[in-house]
Amino acid sequence: MSNSEFVRVEKLNRVFDVSKPLLNRIIERQPKRFVHAATDVSFSIAKGETFALVGESGSGKSTVAKMVVGLLPATSGTVEIDGVSITGKHDRAQMRALRRRIQMIFQDPYASLNPRWRVASIIAEPMLALGIAKSKAEAQHEAGELLKVVGLNPLDGRKYPHEFSGGQRQRIAIARALAAKAEFIVCDEPTSALDVSVQAQILNLMRDLQEQFGLTYLLISHNLAVVRHMSSRIGVMHFGKLVEVEESRALFKNPRQSYTRMLIDAVPDISAATRR
Ligand SMILES: Nc1ncnc2c1ncn2[C@@H]1O[C@H](COP(=O)(O)OP(=O)(O)OP(=O)(O)O)[C@@H](O)[C@H]1O
Ligand SMILES: [Mg+2]
Repeated sequence: MSNSEFVRVEKLNRVFDVSKPLLNRIIERQPKRFVHAATDVSFSIAKGETFALVGESGSGKSTVAKMVVGLLPATSGTVEIDGVSITGKHDRAQMRALRRRIQMIFQDPYASLNPRWRVASIIAEPMLALGIAKSKAEAQHEAGELLKVVGLNPLDGRKYPHEFSGGQRQRIAIARALAAKAEFIVCDEPTSALDVSVQAQILNLMRDLQEQFGLTYLLISHNLAVVRHMSSRIGVMHFGKLVEVEESRALFKNPRQSYTRMLIDAVPDISAATRR
C-alpha cells in the first residue's frame, strides 16, 4: 500500500431491492424493482487528507459512507483501510481493531449519543470497550482531557447530552471518535444541522484535530462552500456514480462535467467568486 492510498475504495456497488411484497406484485403484475444506490464507485484517500463527496440528495453519498465504515454490506466491491480489507474475513479481535480505527460522525449528534448516559461515560465507553484505558477511573480522566481537546470543560462530563447545544453535541461526538483513537473519520453532513456561525467553529475544530492527530477524513456534504473550505480533493456523485474526481481548486475553477458546473452555480457566492 502506498501512502496515497490509506483508504482504497474499489468498484463499490450497492443495489437495494425496493419491490412491493410478492402478492402485490402478482396482483398488480409488476416486476421487481431495484435502486442502484452506488455503481462502481472507486476512489482513494491519502493519509491525513480530506476527501469530499458531493452531490444532490439521493445521489448515493450516505450509502457509500456506510459501506466504507462497514455499517452497510456492499453488493460488490472492496474497501481497504491501511492495506486491510474491511469486507474480507476477519476474526473478532481483528475486526475490533479495525473498527476502532474507523469512526463515523453523523448529521444529528443527538441521535448517536446515548441520552441516558453522562457525557464522560459516553466518551469513556470506547476506551474501556477497546481496552485503550486500563480502568474506569483512567477512562473518566481521559474523557475530561478529550473534552478540553474539543473545546469543552472537563466538568461538562457530568452532564447529559440534552443539556448541550447542537454544536456542543457535535464536539462530544468528535471527542468520542478521538477516544477510540480513530485514524479515519467519515463525516456525513457533520454541520448541516447547525447554525452558520457554529458550523464554522466545528469545521475549524475538525481541521485543527486533523493536523494535531494526522486524521484522514471522508467528508460528505451537499454544501459546496463547506467542501471547498475543508477538502483537498472532491468526488462528485450523480445517480449513484462518481462522475468526476478532481483537486478542490481545479474543480471549482474548471469543472469537467456540466453536472458539476450546475452544482457550483447553485451556490451564489461561490459561483460569483470562481467566475472571472
Ligand atoms: N435502506 C434503503 N432501502 C432502499 N433504498 C435505499 C436505502 N437507503 C438508501 N436508498 C436509496 O438509495 C439512494 C441513495 O440514497 P443515499 O441516502 O445514499 O443518498 P444521499 O446522497 O446520502 O442523499 P442525502 O443528501 O439526501 O442524504 C436513494 O435513492 C435512496 O432512496
Ligand atoms: Mg445522505
